[in-house]
Amino acid sequence: MILIVDDDKAIRVTLTLLLERNNYGVMSADGPTAAMEVVRNHPDLELVLMDMNYTLATDGEEGLTLLKQVKVFRPDVPVILMTAWGTIDLAVQGMRNGAFDFITKPWDNSVLMDRIETAIALRETLPSPSLNGGSSISANEKTGKQGNRSLLVGMAGGGSGIIGRSPVLLSVLATAQRVAQTNAPVLITGESGTGKELIAQFIHEQSRRADKAFVKVNLGGISTALFESEMFGHKKGSFTDAKSDRTGRFELAEGGTIFLDEIGELELASQIKLLRVLQDQTYEVLGDSVTRRADVRVVCATNADLGQMVNDKTFREDLFYRINLIHLHLPPLRERQEDIPLLVEHFIHQTCFTNGLPLATASPEAIQYLQSLPFPGNIRELKNLVERTLLMSTAPSLTSPKGEGWILSAMNFQEAYQQNPVNGGNHSPHLEGVGRASALTLEEIERASIAASIEKHNGNLSLVAKELGISRGALYRKIEKHGL
Ligand SMILES: Nc1ncnc2c1ncn2[C@@H]1O[C@H](COP(=O)(O)OP(=O)(O)OP(=O)(O)O)[C@@H](O)[C@H]1O
Ligand SMILES: [Mg+2]
Repeated sequence: MILIVDDDKAIRVTLTLLLERNNYGVMSADGPTAAMEVVRNHPDLELVLMDMNYTLATDGEEGLTLLKQVKVFRPDVPVILMTAWGTIDLAVQGMRNGAFDFITKPWDNSVLMDRIETAIALRETLPSPSLNGGSSISANEKTGKQGNRSLLVGMAGGGSGIIGRSPVLLSVLATAQRVAQTNAPVLITGESGTGKELIAQFIHEQSRRADKAFVKVNLGGISTALFESEMFGHKKGSFTDAKSDRTGRFELAEGGTIFLDEIGELELASQIKLLRVLQDQTYEVLGDSVTRRADVRVVCATNADLGQMVNDKTFREDLFYRINLIHLHLPPLRERQEDIPLLVEHFIHQTCFTNGLPLATASPEAIQYLQSLPFPGNIRELKNLVERTLLMSTAPSLTSPKGEGWILSAMNFQEAYQQNPVNGGNHSPHLEGVGRASALTLEEIERASIAASIEKHNGNLSLVAKELGISRGALYRKIEKHGL
C-alpha cells in the first residue's frame, strides 16, 4: 500500500486515481497527524509519497519533521518527496534526512510511476538497511556466504569478462546484478583502472535494456559551450557552427543506458542542465521547441570524491542525490590481492591467444611479486604489465622438449616492470628489496612515477596519462594533489 500525504485535496485525488489505475493500494492523509496514524497502523505500507509543506509556511519544516518520524517508525519504507523546482533545496535537506528520492511538481505521470516502481523494486531486492536514499548503498560490505561464490562470477560476469573472487568484488557484482533490473541511477566510484566501465556495461547487459544501446559519454571531454548540443542534439542552423542536424547522446541511448563517465569533471553550468534532464526525464533538441521524453537508464562513474566536491560547492548537491540512488564502490587492486592470480591467468591467456604465443603460466613467486606491487593504475596497469612481460620474455620454441611449459618467473615480471621508465630508477621495488620499496609510501611512489613520466614526455600530459594508464582527468587531479 502507498500512502499519499498532501494538504491539497485535488492532488490527493489525482494521485490516488493514478496509483489505483496502476494496481496499487492507496491511502491518503491531509497532513502529518493523519499520516503518522497510517504509518503506525498499517504494516502493509510500502512507500510514502509526501509533500513538504502543509500550512501556509513554505520552509518545509513540517515536511522534514514528518519525514524523520516516518523513518523512526518505518526505516524500511522508502519516502519520495514532492517539491517545486524553486524549492529543490528542500528536497536536498530531505535526502540528507533519509528520503529515498524526490520529484518536482508539476510531475509527469510516467516519470512518477517510474520512480515509485524503482523505489519499491529496490526495497524488495536489497536488504533494508541498504535502502537509505542519498547516503548510498555500500556494496562493498562483506557478504555472508563465501563458499563457491567465484563460480557466480564465472556465470554472472560471463560475457562481460569480469574476473575476480575477492568478497568485495563479488559483493559489488551481486548488488549490480540486483539493481540492474530496476531503472535506478547508479553511481560507480573507484580509482582509475578499477573496472568502473566494465561494471557499467555489466549493469546494462543484465538489465531489460540489454538489447538497446549502451552509450558512453566522457563528460571530461565536453565543454560547457557544447554540452547541450552533444547531449540533446541540435537542428541545422540552430547556432553558427550547426552545419547539419546532430543526434544527441540521450536520443542515441533511447530505451537503453547512458554511461556518464568522469561525472566529477562536469562544470557547474552543465550540471544544472544535466540535473534538469535527469529530474524531469525530458529535454529539447537545440533549435527545436518540441519537448522529448528520455527513457534512459543513467549510470555515472568517477574517481573523484563527489561528497568532498559537494562540500566544496564544486558539485551540486541535488545532482549528487539524483545520480547516487545506488552507489557501487570498486576498491583499488591493492586491497583485493586475492583477485591477482585469476586476473594474471586471464590476461596471460588473452595475450597469448591474440599474439599467437604458446600458453604461459606465472610461477607462484611471480604471483607473490605481483601482489607486492602498489599498482596505482590498478587492473589496467596489471594488464599492461602482463602483456609487456609476455612480449619481452622469450617464448620457448614450439619444438622444444615436450612437456616443458612456459613459466613466467618473478624475474620476468620484475624486468618488465622496471623496463617501464615510470617504475625504473631507485623507486622501483626489487625482488629482494620489497621491504625497501614498502618504506616508501604509496603516495611517494605515485608522485615519483608521475614526475618521471612528465620529464620523459617533456610535459606532454596526454602521453603521460597514456603511459600511466590513467585518464587525463585523473592525471590532472594527481598533479594538483602532489603539487607537481
Ligand atoms: N575485474 C576485472 N576483470 C577483468 N578485467 C578487468 C577487471 N577490471 C578491470 N579490467 C580491465 O582493466 C581495464 C580498466 O578497466 P575500466 O576501463 O573499466 O576501468 P575504469 O575504472 O573505468 O578506469 P578509468 O577511471 O581510468 O576510466 C580494462 O581493460 C578492463 O577490461
Ligand atoms: Mg573508465
